Amino acid sequence: MEVIERVSALRAIVTALRCSGKRIGFVPTMGALHEGHLQLLRASARENDITICSVFVNPTQFNNASDYKLYPRTLEQDISLLQTVGCDYLFAPSAEEVYPQQSVLQFSFGALEAVMEGEHRPGHFNGVAIVVSKLFHIVQPHKAYFGQKDLQQVAIVRQLVQTLSFDLELVCYHTVREADGLAMSSRNKRLTATQRQHATQLYKALQMAAADLKHKAIPDIKAEVAAYLGQVDELQLEYFEIVDAYTLQPVTDVQAQEEVAICIAAFVGEVRLIDNMIVNLNEI
Ligand code: PAF
Repeated sequence: MEVIERVSALRAIVTALRCSGKRIGFVPTMGALHEGHLQLLRASARENDITICSVFVNPTQFNNASDYKLYPRTLEQDISLLQTVGCDYLFAPSAEEVYPQQSVLQFSFGALEAVMEGEHRPGHFNGVAIVVSKLFHIVQPHKAYFGQKDLQQVAIVRQLVQTLSFDLELVCYHTVREADGLAMSSRNKRLTATQRQHATQLYKALQMAAADLKHKAIPDIKAEVAAYLGQVDELQLEYFEIVDAYTLQPVTDVQAQEEVAICIAAFVGEVRLIDNMIVNLNEI
């Protein structure tokens, strides 16, 4: 695997690969790789001739300076892991390389970013859209792989791809979980052992809500989840929403829906975690 730090070097490689008819799979990440990322990379290696991964902790998508500072950075370990999953190129640029000038570009995703992560992390999706657009232009992938754990990010990137006519296929891969259900996340590395145990309650809350969907009203499910998580030490619920699985707008009548997403965000200590579950109402 080759590690590339310069945009110009990667552009030259991508041009040559495309000229020789190679299909490129791309997995954008912020590093601190875990099994969730590795499954995306393995899928890319299976489905494409060449796999490119980026590791870049993107400053413009953090609306909290300490979250950016404390985001885990484990490049040496990431390189070792990437070598085991068939990754051909790692793009690991500096912030100056990606942002030679400060970006003043403003994206707006309308209703899609007015809820959940968009509502609670102002500017977050603008930063995601800027960096993902830059990466798509530089890497020019045929397929790009994202994890369902960041469900709203997938919806935003889907809208970005459609609106700006990026010529690529977006692949959304299911959430990979630890044995006790906790969704894998680079941020889990920041949890203490006790917080790590408390964090498993997020998935339990999603399961509890999913089981109630057919026979309880949404306000009652929300109240139950808030009360349940309210008893967990060091856990501060930020939002819990039941939304249309595609538009991500809150639903009022579950019976009128085919598929809903149950979405949650909470602080466990200082660490902000998100998770979600997509439920097909015809299957429960
Ligand atoms: O999901 C992430 O890790 C990031 O938001 C992404 C897509 C790599 C953009 O910085």
